[in-house]
Amino acid sequence: MEDLTRKISELSKRRGFFSQTAEAYGGVAGFQTFGPEGAELKRNIENSWRNKFSDSLGHREIEAPTIMPEAVFEASGHLETFDDMIIECPECGTSSRADHIVEDNTGIGEAEGFSTDKIEEIIRENSLKCPNCEEDLSDIPVEDFNLMFKTSIGPGSGQKGYLRPETAQGIFVEFPRFKEYMRNQLPFGITQIGKSYRNEISPRKGLVRVRELTQAELEHFIDPEEDRPPISDVEDIELKLYSREAQNKDKRGEEMTVKEAVEQDVIKSDWIAYYLGLATEWYRSIGVDMERFRFRQHQNDELSHYASDCWDAESQVDGDWIEITGFAYRGCYDLKKHDEYSEEDYTVFKEYDEPIEKKVTEADPDMGFLGPEYGNKAAQIAEKIQEKAKKSPEEFQGETVEAKLENKSFEIPTEKCNFERKTVTKTGEHIIPHVVEPSFGIDRMVYTVLAHAYDEDEVDNEKRTVLRLTEEVAPTEVAVFPLMDKDGLGEKAREIASQLRDEGFSVKYDDTGNIGKRYRRQDEVGTPYCITVDYETLEDDPETVTVRDRDSTEQERVEVSELSEFL
Ligand code: GLY
Repeated sequence: MEDLTRKISELSKRRGFFSQTAEAYGGVAGFQTFGPEGAELKRNIENSWRNKFSDSLGHREIEAPTIMPEAVFEASGHLETFDDMIIECPECGTSSRADHIVEDNTGIGEAEGFSTDKIEEIIRENSLKCPNCEEDLSDIPVEDFNLMFKTSIGPGSGQKGYLRPETAQGIFVEFPRFKEYMRNQLPFGITQIGKSYRNEISPRKGLVRVRELTQAELEHFIDPEEDRPPISDVEDIELKLYSREAQNKDKRGEEMTVKEAVEQDVIKSDWIAYYLGLATEWYRSIGVDMERFRFRQHQNDELSHYASDCWDAESQVDGDWIEITGFAYRGCYDLKKHDEYSEEDYTVFKEYDEPIEKKVTEADPDMGFLGPEYGNKAAQIAEKIQEKAKKSPEEFQGETVEAKLENKSFEIPTEKCNFERKTVTKTGEHIIPHVVEPSFGIDRMVYTVLAHAYDEDEVDNEKRTVLRLTEEVAPTEVAVFPLMDKDGLGEKAREIASQLRDEGFSVKYDDTGNIGKRYRRQDEVGTPYCITVDYETLEDDPETVTVRDRDSTEQERVEVSELSEFL
């Protein structure tokens, strides 16, 4: 189907899924407001995610603030590296993503990982133009632009803060609290669904590249030596993989089971393979068309600063591939950084099965000697001697030991170092857990689900637009109509609607316009069933109604008392 993007955007605006924010004031690029149908669809997708990736796996969900102090993002590396490449047109002033100009106008598929110098060179060699006014950009510098929104916390000049660019940091920074809560037992998972902010250079395509987005993230903390995923739960699930190797050899993607992908080393981390399996089940359940879907491995130069490997789930809309989830192996990067930059302890004490005897070497320098002899350098010298005792015990064999401070060296008599070799019993060690992160972009999930559910067919010789949403995510499960709001039909229909609501269904009541138009309205918002109360309902004993199936448009008479079971 051509031009699906335009059709989704038109339908979304007309039927209350989503539309650009503040259009009354000219709109603001990169911000979208979810209308009643869209907000409900989004909530259903979030709840389904919560059920699959948090509750069913025994993970725990948290809620952190969206603004955090600068120190968090200094430690996380976002301040230094969370950049996109920008180029500004000297003629019309439009700022554009320089890597997108390259991708859109050359055969290059992924330019995000290239250096600014390389992008400048490609723009120059191909005389690439401004996408807005066609001005030649050959000699225009390409610069890094940090995507975080900056703010100030508190009055006056305040404390520098940033709107979080990923919900993940709100989890990592509180790891010392969570490890205590989890009684120091790895593995455990912490999840969060919430808003993140990215000051995109050129937002595009409705929900696809927005400046305020909802993420659903899972940070699974593991001991990489000990913890293995329950891979047998998903081993037979077929994955559609487009590995780095396949991309580089210009080959097509391949299909294999989770088990095969691990055994053949196509996916290096069994944790990532496990989550790709679970996610495949989930995408299918919420209506992602697996014919327009793949997992694509990141190229090395495309990896985020924290990831050692990453696979993106991508959906296809109008021929374009859209990243909907990133499955990153973040290793110990984040916890190590926060451990270094803060005063807190981000390690976990790993107890051995059996205590072990260990030979150690240590020194306990005589401060009564060092103090008077070396004054304010004594403490630093003592520290150096202690380090040396651990790492280079052989140096304690001579008369003196060298302690090197920044630009001076001191010879310390060995007898004043109180060096000894001893055997200690260790019950465990401190390790920094590794992190496996499935990170879902909920707005893009909503967009994909809408696009893949969109269909057009013909009913009674008339063109019909229908959203074939799954029952799990459809904003409304069942709509109830009276044939007309008279002769008691309206009362009966309202009574049935209310009864179904009490039984837990999401129900809409509609008595406006002719019945055909009411069916079309519900088809367009993806309601799987419509119930009509007619004169037969009032005459039948027991009472019956018609139930119309959205996809087949077939109608069946069903007893009112059996409705909930039927639905
Ligand atoms: N936490 C990963 C991301 O935001 O892309």
